[in-house]
Formats: sequence, structure tokens, C-alpha cells
Amino acid sequence: MKNLVIVGTQWGDEGKGKLVDILTPAFDIVARYQGGHNAGHTVIIGDKRFVLHLIPSGILHTDKLCVIGNGVVVDPKALVDEIDQLEKLGINVTPDQLRISSRAHLILPYHRVIEHGGEERRGKEKVGTTMRGIGPAYEDKIGRRGLRAGDFLDEELLIEKLRTNIETVNMLQEAQKAHLIDEDELVEEVVSLAPRIQPYVCDTPLLLNRAVKQGKRILLEGAQATMLDIDFGTYPFVTSSNATAGGACTGTGLPPGKITGVLGIAKAYTTRVGSGPFPTELLNETGDKLRAKGFEYGASTGRPRRCGWFDAFVVRYSVAINGVNSIALTKLDVLDGIDEIKVCTGYKYEGKQLVDMPFDAKKLEGVEPIYETLPGWTESTVGVTDFDKLPQNAQAYVNRLSELVECEISVVSTGPERNQTIVRPGTCFDKWQNQ
Ligand code: GDP
Ligand code: IMO
Ligand code: MG
Repeated sequence: MKNLVIVGTQWGDEGKGKLVDILTPAFDIVARYQGGHNAGHTVIIGDKRFVLHLIPSGILHTDKLCVIGNGVVVDPKALVDEIDQLEKLGINVTPDQLRISSRAHLILPYHRVIEHGGEERRGKEKVGTTMRGIGPAYEDKIGRRGLRAGDFLDEELLIEKLRTNIETVNMLQEAQKAHLIDEDELVEEVVSLAPRIQPYVCDTPLLLNRAVKQGKRILLEGAQATMLDIDFGTYPFVTSSNATAGGACTGTGLPPGKITGVLGIAKAYTTRVGSGPFPTELLNETGDKLRAKGFEYGASTGRPRRCGWFDAFVVRYSVAINGVNSIALTKLDVLDGIDEIKVCTGYKYEGKQLVDMPFDAKKLEGVEPIYETLPGWTESTVGVTDFDKLPQNAQAYVNRLSELVECEISVVSTGPERNQTIVRPGTCFDKWQNQ
């Protein structure tokens, strides 16, 4: 098992950062394949808390190479700020540790301006984005007018492309009687970042494929999650990239045959940030308790996360779409002390049980979850590292989830720290970690 994809199976914030951090020692390179600084991946090491947005979580292991793949959208200012922030925390980010794909598209200041207008116009139907300019940057990519990280290598051309795009944006702003972008100011702002970005830019698809040929192991770090995927999520309440495992190929240039495993990350309950359907959402005291105990506030925006019961229908769908071989179940400890825990096993719509995940967000808004109730446990699971030492009911909960989602659960996370983790012997994860 060599090149492993880490993918979120719900609506994000499942604990991907923690799992990437744990697995990094077993790999040579960690590559992000999509999304941008909308992601917030938290890694806790002792008394230090790191939140990675754009840079792969593997950067905390200073002997590894990290790659920002071509499928990522890079805000150059956010990247420079993140590098500076890491350096303040004692992590140097040299070009030996980080490479950025010349093909990665740029998020530029006008993308945020466009996004503000777009969300405002949607009114009640707004997506509730992170306002980082993600959607408009991907629109420019698909519209074949985007700027890419490689454009930083030719300043003259960079300026020319920037000016052309700003002129178009300003024409649209004018038509909407919205404020105009100061062209010279923006060009100067972006160009001034060039010396900081240039040293990191290279042909990462070539680099990765060469590394594979040399027998190196690559960990592919997904951001967001399956239900936020542009194709497979709760469209239009999704992000603008392919967060699912397939995105790891298009987002890095690694061929499908080189991907040898997929680890799905699932939280022991469900959370979602932003708008859109969420069938198992708990708009009551239990939801508030999960939020408080799980500290469910966005790692990027600080927004309170919506909380609800584990949705096995969603995770089973994710297992299928991503070809998940094994699951890491996180935040089991947050369920400690709850009398009865519900799990959604399927949906009813207009009285009839659904066989498949509805493609339509409106339909998903109208479904009624079918619940199975499992007994909770009173003992603390915080920091437990051995599956057999979990309370019987906690073991039964994990085993039942595994049955319902039709996938092995190889890891159970019992706290935010590296060592607060159960790895079940003989599982896929055990093999990946000790390859
Ligand atoms: P990501 O976006 O998938 O990397 O997840 P986030 O970092 O946004 O959110 C997960 C949060 O849960 C972070 O604050 C982690 O430190 C924390 N966390 C991860 N695993 C566990 C766990 O098993 N128990 C608890 N209590 N917290 C955890
Ligand atoms: P990680 O990687 C949770 C959500 C936003 C919004 C929708 C679209 O930390 O799991 P966008 O700014 O991407 O256009 O917003 O997606 N969203 C996330 N929710 N975790 C994330 O990342 C998210 N990244 C985006 O809240 O609903
Ligand atoms: Mg997050």
C-alpha cells in the first residue's frame, strides 16, 4: 500500500488534519489536491495548536516534502501569511519542504468582491461560503481566464493578465452599480508577492510521478468532504471542487492506478457549517451539548457548526463514492455521558423509504431520518488507546456503525492529541501506518 487518499465522508471538519499528522511519518510526501484556504485542519501537538488552511498538515514533520497540487486554488496573500504564521510557531517553510504546482489557480482580491455580491444576491438561498473567493476562482479556472501560480514566474505577463481580468470585473461591477476595483493598487499588491511565491513554484505532477517511480510514498490530503463535493454533495450547497477521492488524481496529476488506498474520516456524530440540507440536525439542547463538548466552531471562520446525530446513510454513500477501504472514526469521546445515542440508518420521503441518496437538495430538505437508538455509556473514553478498554456500549456503537456503513473502522479517535488514538491491529490502517 503506497499512495493513500484521506477524504472527509460527511460535511467537513471530521478530523482530517489529525489523521494526516499521524500518518505522515509513514509517507515521503504529503500533497493537498483541492480546495483552498476555506479549509481549516487542526493539529494539536502537546500545548501547541496548529490550524493549517492551505499548506498540507504534513508540514509539521519537517523532514517531509509537502505539495500544493494543481487542483488547489491558492490565495498568494493567504499563503504568505500562513508561511509567516508557521515560522512564528517555529516551523520553517523552505522550498525544500513546500512546492506549489505551477498549474494551481490563483485566488485574487477581486474574487472575494465577486463572491460578496453573489452571496448577497442569493438572499435566503445563500450557500454560506467562507468568503475566501473559492467559488469565483474556480469559475475563472473553468471559464479559461484564470491566473495560475506559474504566472508569478513572468511578471510582465502576470501584470497583463491581471489588468485584462480587472477590466472585465470592473465592467460587471459598473453594470451592477457596485464599487470599482482600483486596478493599479491591486496589480501592485499582487506583484509585490511574487518574490515570496516564486521559489516554491514548480511542475508538481512531474515531481510526484518521478517520486512514485522511485518508490516514494505519497499521502494525498483532501479538504472539505464528500457532501460538499461539487458533483456528489448537496448541490448547490457545496464547495466548488472535487473533494472526493477522484479529485486526488485530477488535483495532483497522479494516475488512478497509482492510488492504492482510501481512508475515510468520519466523526462519531455529524456537523455542518453554512447552509443546506442536514437531515439529522439537532436544533435542541442535545445539539448544543455536542457543539459545546466537541468545541464545534469553524477552524477557519469561527462560525458555530450545526450539530446532529451520525448519519449512516450519508457515510455509506461516501464509502461507495470514494471507494473507502477503511474508516477513522473521530471524536467518540464527545458522546461520553449521553444516555441514548441515535443513528440514522435511512430516509423516508413522503412516507416511502428511499433506496438512494437524493440528488436534489430540496428533496433532501424534506426527508425524514429513520433512527435506530443505541444505549450510551457513562464512563470516559478520553485518551483510551485500546479498543478493548472502551466501555462495552462504546464498542457496540463503533461496531454497529461499521455494519451500517459497510466498511471497516480501523481507527477510533478519543481526543484531539496524537496519542489519543486507537489503531485496531490487523486493519488496513495498521498496515498503512507500518508499511
Ligand atoms: P478537519 O478540517 O477535518 O481537519 O477537522 P477540524 O480541524 O476542522 O476539526 C476537528 C476538530 O476536532 C479539531 O479541533 C481537532 O483538534 C478536534 N479533534 C480531532 N479528533 C478529535 C477527537 O477524537 N476528540 C476530540 N475531542 N477532538 C478531536
Ligand atoms: P475542512 O477542510 C467545513 C463549506 C462552507 C460552505 C460551503 C461552500 O476544514 O473540512 P466555500 O467557501 O468553500 O465556497 O463554501 O462549504 N466549507 C466547509 N465546511 N469544513 C471545511 O473545510 C469547509 N470548507 C468549506 O461553510 O457551506
Ligand atoms: Mg476543518
